[in-house]
Amino acid sequence: MNTENQIHDTSHISYESLLEGNKIFVERALKEDPEYFTKLANGQKPPVLWIGCADSRVPANQITNTKPGEIFVHRNIANVVVHTDMNMLSVLDYAVNVLKVKHVIITGHYGCGGVIASMTNKQFGIIDNWLRCIKDVYRLHAAELDAIADEKERADRLVEFNVIESVDNITKTSIVQNAWRNGQDLSIHGWVYSLETGLITDMNVSISNNDTLQEVFKLT
Ligand code: CO
Repeated sequence: MNTENQIHDTSHISYESLLEGNKIFVERALKEDPEYFTKLANGQKPPVLWIGCADSRVPANQITNTKPGEIFVHRNIANVVVHTDMNMLSVLDYAVNVLKVKHVIITGHYGCGGVIASMTNKQFGIIDNWLRCIKDVYRLHAAELDAIADEKERADRLVEFNVIESVDNITKTSIVQNAWRNGQDLSIHGWVYSLETGLITDMNVSISNNDTLQEVFKLT
């Protein structure tokens, strides 16, 4: 079977089918635990903040086998972390200072359309300004990236660099550095998800203090 050009069939999905699907979800959840929604309605205490790509194929809960209430989620195109993004800063602040999450996980994915687009010279519209951040990541690693002949391989490496950059950027926020200064247990991690296997690779760039930050980024 040629799977190369086949994509997941979404023709059965409609506005109405989502509402039907919701009923099935409620039924199943209540069958497992009649108190399920009552308990969730009482509050949340997720130990993890997930910052991932908006791509429909990378849903935080499903790919980590977790449930509602277990992961606080922020997603944008290509899991970019920039300090002028009030949306990201608000999510991070709430997650760190109110929910007291113990882990922030930046999850990129191979085959990321945003990352691939950032490697071209084409204009795509408003999004070009967002993707420019990834072009900066390319610039920082241009020597290694330019040396990779295979286009897919080069894009995959940029996906990894982009995740690592987002991890670095998160650690440079006053939110994360203040949490560390106050002795809060908080680790930042970088992961990459494979659309082809469904498996996550840990980039092994976990960081839980600002010791390794360049001096100029350390906030006192
Ligand atoms: Co993506």
